[in-house]
Amino acid sequence: MEPIAVLQGRRVLLGVTGGIGAYKICVLASRLTQAGAEVDVVMTEAATRFVAPLTFQALTGRPVYTDLWSTPGPGLPTHIAHVGLAHSADLLVIAPATANTLAKLAHGLADNLLTTLALAATCPVLVVPAMDAGMWSNVATQANVQTLRARGVRFAGPTWGRMASGLEGEGRMIEPEEILGHIRLVLGRNGPLSGRRVVVTAGPTREFLDPVRFLSNPSSGRQGFALAQAALDRGARVTLIAGPTHLPTPVGAKRVDVISAQEMHDAVLEAVAEADVLLMAAAVADYRPQETVPQKMKKKDAALTLRLVRTPDVLAAVAEQRAKTGRPRVTVGFAAESENLVENARAKMEAKRLDLIVANDVTAADAGFAVGTNRVVILDLQGGVQELPLMSKSAVAEVVLDRVVDLLETAISSRRSA
Ligand code: CTP
Repeated sequence: MEPIAVLQGRRVLLGVTGGIGAYKICVLASRLTQAGAEVDVVMTEAATRFVAPLTFQALTGRPVYTDLWSTPGPGLPTHIAHVGLAHSADLLVIAPATANTLAKLAHGLADNLLTTLALAATCPVLVVPAMDAGMWSNVATQANVQTLRARGVRFAGPTWGRMASGLEGEGRMIEPEEILGHIRLVLGRNGPLSGRRVVVTAGPTREFLDPVRFLSNPSSGRQGFALAQAALDRGARVTLIAGPTHLPTPVGAKRVDVISAQEMHDAVLEAVAEADVLLMAAAVADYRPQETVPQKMKKKDAALTLRLVRTPDVLAAVAEQRAKTGRPRVTVGFAAESENLVENARAKMEAKRLDLIVANDVTAADAGFAVGTNRVVILDLQGGVQELPLMSKSAVAEVVLDRVVDLLETAISSRRSA
């Protein structure tokens, strides 16, 4: 599993309470640990009936805490010895959180090690509820949720779905991958892009000939979605404008779905009006059929000639708007090339008035369209050429976002001194 920069060396205190969802939290503990976080698990007695402490111990490589009263060595009982856990954590996640534990948290009870540590914790708290729908919607639970929210406790879920009882309703715990997204959001909130607005475009566009046929390209959207996640990890407010793709929205991003190049153009121009950064990773079609017919085209014996006309160049329109308004402050483009990579990309950077261009050779089998890895060259206006080795699209996104942080700082400070 790949390391995640925002989790490196971060201390996550993971409180597990007695719900069947506890088995999914094993996956979360494993993901967090493999991604670079230091995970200390605290379980209630009820939680240990669903999952053995040894499971978490094996997955995190660290001791698991369960007992308020055991003495870890001569001297102090566990809760005193481990209050330090609550003080040194960057985040306390309680997942699954039962209605019973929510009630205790709302009322400040400290009757087990987890609730004791929660009371002592000074870090942000993220609660991931899991319970029967009737218990979740009960006024007592909802009042507890409101109390906790008002105190700054964050909630992730629950969602609608099948519950342990076999019934459907709102009370189902969200999936580990989504919980991870919430954790990233909290841990990244004070990052270098905190309060900044970043617009990211991703995926292909579709230009329809008739209701069932279109011109498109094999872009999966993965590079753009990875950029959105990397921006969120740095605390940015992210708008993700996506062409057709099945990828899940990174937690915290505002997603705008578009289909055609024209829709992409309109959505981008609206979003960048207040943006600090635009990352234009979408593979926008350059041409569309001159006409789109409303009914399915019938085949004929003769060959068919299509007449294509240009779509708007989104980056050109952004450059024009930026010349007038100064927004976005930083524009990053992507270049998909099949030959003369660096020369073509440099020409595009200048023609489209970009601050940075990320170029890739789309003919390589392990890079570019529809694969998880990429091999890119990053060019800047100072003549810099940063050649990156083959890496995951997330790792490419990390490098690009680090460059963006620097560019934005320079753009803001040069404006201040002007
Ligand atoms: N782009 C855009 N609007 C278009 C086409 C592309 O804003 N109608 C953006 C892409 O999102 C990318 C950059 O322009 O950030 C370069 O895209 P690319 O397809 O490599 O280049 P084109 O401008 O289409 O030029 P060519 O097809 O001649 O290589």
